[in-house]
Amino acid sequence: MSLSDGLKLRIEQAGASVLHQPARPVEPDALRSAELQQLIDLMFSTLHGIGVGLAAPQVGLGLQVVVIEDPAHLQGQVAPELLREQERVPIAPHVLVNPTLRIEDDADRATFFEGCLSVDGYRALVPRARRVRVQALDRFGAPFERQASGWYARILQHELDHLAGRLYLERMLPSSFISATSYSQHWSQLPVAEARRLLGDR
Ligand code: NI
Repeated sequence: MSLSDGLKLRIEQAGASVLHQPARPVEPDALRSAELQQLIDLMFSTLHGIGVGLAAPQVGLGLQVVVIEDPAHLQGQVAPELLREQERVPIAPHVLVNPTLRIEDDADRATFFEGCLSVDGYRALVPRARRVRVQALDRFGAPFERQASGWYARILQHELDHLAGRLYLERMLPSSFISATSYSQHWSQLPVAEARRLLGDR
């Protein structure tokens, strides 16, 4: 438990200029500051229960900081067949500072519905690379490198796009942009290939 447990920061919505411009790298020494450590704690508490990734620009700060956590209890709300198709497995909480990402094989892509806390109330089909390699600093400034695949690779691509000032809107199949209500009432129960046939690929 930390002091910030339960506190939620306000999440910026599409149109806020901070979401549409590249974020600044963090000076590694700044990770020793209480302010930055508290920001990271607050980003996690903001994310808990509502999503799997959050980038600092989404809480109004143009800094290259991302928090990711995809706990098993969130995945319990998703049909097991879809989880398998999405290659989605639990991901422990972690922080990426100044991350860079390389796509392993541009031809190896998967398309699924995706949402964003900064595009509240909508979903769309977004093609993404299935496998990536990411390099970053952790919250204490230690460098690390990871390979990621499946849903985790999707989360990384989505969050790193935020740091470049990009929303999924410029990656999606435009004809598949639908309301989150419609998604959960209807489209989430269809196989993705069927949704894609009906909504995407125009
Ligand atoms: Ni987002």
